Amino acid sequence: MPDQAHGLRALADIARRELEELPRSSETTLTPVLARKSTIDLNGLAASHLDQAVCGSSYALADISQVNQERVNSVSAPRVQHARVIAITSGKGGVGKTSISTNLALMMAKSGQRVVVLDADLGLANLHIMLGVNPKYHLQHVISGEKTLGEVLYPCSGGIMIVGGGSGMCDLADLDNARRDAFLADLSSLDEMADVILLDTGAGLSRNVISFLCAAEEVVVLSTPEPTSLMDAYATIKVVSREAPEVRLGLVVNMARTDEEARATKDRMIKITKQYLKIDLDFLGSIPFDVVVPQAVRAQKPFTTTYPNAQASRAVEQIASHMGYRSQAPSGGGISGFLNRMQNFGRRLNSAGHR
Ligand SMILES: Nc1ncnc2c1ncn2[C@@H]1O[C@H](COP(=O)(O)OP(=O)(O)OP(=O)(O)O)[C@@H](O)[C@H]1O
Ligand SMILES: [Mg+2]
Repeated sequence: MPDQAHGLRALADIARRELEELPRSSETTLTPVLARKSTIDLNGLAASHLDQAVCGSSYALADISQVNQERVNSVSAPRVQHARVIAITSGKGGVGKTSISTNLALMMAKSGQRVVVLDADLGLANLHIMLGVNPKYHLQHVISGEKTLGEVLYPCSGGIMIVGGGSGMCDLADLDNARRDAFLADLSSLDEMADVILLDTGAGLSRNVISFLCAAEEVVVLSTPEPTSLMDAYATIKVVSREAPEVRLGLVVNMARTDEEARATKDRMIKITKQYLKIDLDFLGSIPFDVVVPQAVRAQKPFTTTYPNAQASRAVEQIASHMGYRSQAPSGGGISGFLNRMQNFGRRLNSAGHR
């Protein structure tokens, strides 16, 4: 297919040019992320705890302008079709990231979008388990050059494709130039194949999770109504909003037992992020606590497929449709832009001695 080959080559050239424009060295130094202690009350939890939580587990780039410039560079590159890169995350673990990523992907696919879900949980890659599939190859095989991206994309029922990630994602920041260019050329073909790339990240504020979040175009932060979950979600939002102000941040409340609880959780988070971080968090919706979710996990089937009329399924459908309306967002350069930014974060953190 000469046309397709030509298209891919053109994409690869653009990606390479973008890479060449990026500074190869970094003088950026790292500083503790928070200076100010605040006293917000989250269900009785003093928010000075939030600050400590963030200080203890994170870092800030003293100069984020370079990263932002990369985003601008990738926007001003010749226009090609770029996939939206959306990271799904939470501060606390076990709040539903993988369940929501898979079902959100299915709902987006149902509305006609081409969706790829990338398992970006480096510790416990289990996206495939939730879908009841067992892909033989994953991103590591592409990074090592054994397989092409097309060979590791695993089609699942419902029209979505997944890529197993696991620990291979760690290696992305450390690729040598030749390997990185080859990988990037391959990966950039995702921009032609997908409208949306969802990253199912791990929990917390590890160096890798932060790199994914700050490199993504949109970040969906999940929180349950529990104060610990809220506190950790706030910490995540705080870091991302400071490190990468262009990233579009959205909130999903999961596992609320009543509408009132969902509303109160949302209101609290919107209020404290506005008051203390000066950001307008985009509320994307809430998903009630619903027994069909764990039932579907046990059956290794997505709940939106098995129980399409369940409350949780309808809620995810609404969130997918809400997110669809936001799709006219300025492009951050698709998957190539994402990878460039992520690598740059990695290089800076390496040069500052962060592991
Ligand atoms: N809306 C919901 N109602 C009931 N149970 C839910 C809901 N959402 C998620 N769960 C349950 O919560 C558990 C954790 O879900 P999941 O594995 O998706 O979370 P996670 O955030 O990806 O976890 P990890 O941080 O370990 O990656 C699962 O048992 C799932 O069934
Ligand atoms: Mg998970």
